[in-house]
Amino acid sequence: MSSENYAVHGNVAVITLNNPPVNGLGHALRSGITEGITRANDDAGIQAIVLIGAGKAFSGGADITEFNTPAALAEPNLHTVINFVESSDKPVIAALHAVAMGGGLELALACHFRIAAPGAKIALPEVKLGLLPGAGGTQRLPRVIGVEAALNMIVSGADVPSEQLAKTALFDEMIEGDLLQGALAFAAKVVAEKRPLKLVRDMKIDYPGYEAFMQFARNMVKPVAGPFPAPLKCVDAVAAAITAKNFDEGLKVEREAFLYLIQTPESKALRHFFFGERAASKIADVPADTPLRKIEKVGVIGAGTMGGGISMNFLNAGIPVTMLEMKQEALDKGVATIRRNYESSLKKGKLTQEKLDSRMALLKPSLSYDDLKDADLIIEAVFEEIGIKEQVFKKLDEVAKPGAILASNTSTLDVNKIAGFTKRPGDVVGLHFFSPANVMKLLEVVRGAATAKDVLATVMQVAKKIRKTAVISGVCDGFIGNRMIEQYGRQAGFLLEEGCLPEQVDKAVEKFGFAMGPFRMGDLAGNDIGWAIRKRRYQERPNMKYSKTGDLLCEMGRYGQKTGAGWYDYKPGDRTAYPNQQVNDMVLQCSKDLGLERRKISDREIVERLVYSLVNEAAYILEEGIAQRASDIDMVYLTGYGFPFHRGGPMLYADTVGLPNVVNAMRKYARGRHGEFWKPAPLLAKLAAEGKTFN
Ligand code: 3HC
Ligand code: NAI
Repeated sequence: MSSENYAVHGNVAVITLNNPPVNGLGHALRSGITEGITRANDDAGIQAIVLIGAGKAFSGGADITEFNTPAALAEPNLHTVINFVESSDKPVIAALHAVAMGGGLELALACHFRIAAPGAKIALPEVKLGLLPGAGGTQRLPRVIGVEAALNMIVSGADVPSEQLAKTALFDEMIEGDLLQGALAFAAKVVAEKRPLKLVRDMKIDYPGYEAFMQFARNMVKPVAGPFPAPLKCVDAVAAAITAKNFDEGLKVEREAFLYLIQTPESKALRHFFFGERAASKIADVPADTPLRKIEKVGVIGAGTMGGGISMNFLNAGIPVTMLEMKQEALDKGVATIRRNYESSLKKGKLTQEKLDSRMALLKPSLSYDDLKDADLIIEAVFEEIGIKEQVFKKLDEVAKPGAILASNTSTLDVNKIAGFTKRPGDVVGLHFFSPANVMKLLEVVRGAATAKDVLATVMQVAKKIRKTAVISGVCDGFIGNRMIEQYGRQAGFLLEEGCLPEQVDKAVEKFGFAMGPFRMGDLAGNDIGWAIRKRRYQERPNMKYSKTGDLLCEMGRYGQKTGAGWYDYKPGDRTAYPNQQVNDMVLQCSKDLGLERRKISDREIVERLVYSLVNEAAYILEEGIAQRASDIDMVYLTGYGFPFHRGGPMLYADTVGLPNVVNAMRKYARGRHGEFWKPAPLLAKLAAEGKTFN
């Protein structure tokens, strides 16, 4: 530990955890703590030790970047540090502020005393990484805040404000004002009163009815946990805090579960998501200190499906929105939809009347471009026609103030072309929201050839403010997500022609973990959208092959849930998909017309063809630089397309299966019908041959 992180204040040694950004307990910091504890104990002039965090956290926990590397286990490991602290002869006081999470909280729990500033986030969030607290948290937390409260925190991973725990044995005192001064004053009391060292491990848990509670907890947790093993392991470990022969036996149960979980693909997937989401916000050639443009007022053009949802994101974040339409009727309809959405949240108890009113008050409906004059960011969400986009952007170029960011929500048009309608292409960017835009996490930020770096940096920050997972995409047809889904949809159609029915495909994919199979998804999104795109493609790229089944379905007027019928039937007010005989007959007839003998297709083939078609297109996207990194593609699929979370996205999944296995399966499909779609992308073939992975 450097001298600046070990300081002596009279008879108190202060050890400052200093490892920005969140004082993750990496090897260097751990060494610093054990050295500091030893030094203080060796110094006859020291009578108490304070552990405090520098910067914006006490500690965010174990350093996740070290997981599965030798550094994580290198001595002193976290257990050793905790032993040093717990067995210190001199009282160790943890002073918590801002963030005390995971291993950070576990370290504090091993100290003899704990004090906290109000507003500190206290949590054992390991379950969100597919783990359980592995440094005594499952054994110590129940001893200080009670079994039920501790289990709640551990199974949910949710953070609790320190003041809410002020009355439990977790904290000896709450400190208002300067935390270090408070800690020194508290240390003086401990010394003056010769307070005995309190070890949480020695506290007894008295919980006579625990069996019934644990059974109840298991029953509650199991269905929510789905494919993730961690939540039930959390319950087991907390149970061991009550049932184990002694504290160390309980620790052993926790340790074994931790070592098991850390190797599971589910935990790897969740950790991949944690880092992937943060990595996505970084743009290789845009420095972190790029000056940002101020975004205080937003304009949205078009009050339809997307415009309304987009506006709500900003209203929710307290940013005023001017929403523009061409006609009063469309404007009124858009405003009414927003109000109805908020009222529905109010009814469900998710929003107060006061919040509803304040959000609606931030919304200014307008029919005049003049009202956009002072907007800092203007997002266009009008009809998907290049001529209309041209009119809108030419008009925006006239009225928007210099420096305003001009964004398009287009899902298929060329952002460079749109930028070219203005004399300020550097200010133009694509902001591709997903429907429903107020709910879906994903935002594709489409970087045009001329988009300025500060525009990109600014929209990435705006995305964070409106709680979206933003991923940069280059300009291409469909950007990252829809370009990939086109291949997936194509294979789904071919599977129908070759022998499947919609239900079989959906079930196989849903069993794999997708929120919805391709046909149920089509019914939700509207089958006519894909139909319109295909019609355009038949003109532009006549050689591009699609299954006819999707077109035939639309010709039957079955557009999906909105018409009460799509690949399936729907009953009013019921989203359950009921198979329909006419649709199935249409599929069978289609095979016949193609002269295909239908065959039995395994679930494995269905999943491989759908998922590997995503992977292969993604490899092209990566190679062309449309996506910056493989994990960005995973973020798109996890937050926008219902890809199973526990599999970490198509790229991590392919890595897990092994790229040579992926390529091998593709070669097999290349020998089958429409084998032309199974040529491995050069990047995929190269990585597989070199034994490498995407991530
Ligand atoms: N280890 C390493 N890096 C971490 C980290 C950790 N535990 N926690 C956060 N970081 C990094 C992030 O990756 C990010 O890095 P970047 O700037 O290079 O992208 C940076 O810290 C800031 O993170 P956020 O953007 O999330 O900042 P916020 O201020 O919004 O949130 C936080 C801070 C609340 C600490 C949040 O980062 C968080 O929830 N972190 C995860 C905490 C966690 O899961 N801890 C448990 C670790 S596992 C453990 O302790 C095992 C033990 O039981 C044995
Ligand atoms: P929509 O048809 O629901 O809404 C479009 C609105 O724009 C209408 O209310 C219309 O009156 C208005 N409008 C048309 N021309 C205008 C003009 N010149 N000035 C002002 N208002 C005008 O369409 P939707 O679905 O909201 O789509 C809008 C854009 O978002 C399109 O570019 C679409 O490709 C894109 N998008 C749509 C998604 C979806 O799932 N619906 C998903 C992602 C992007």
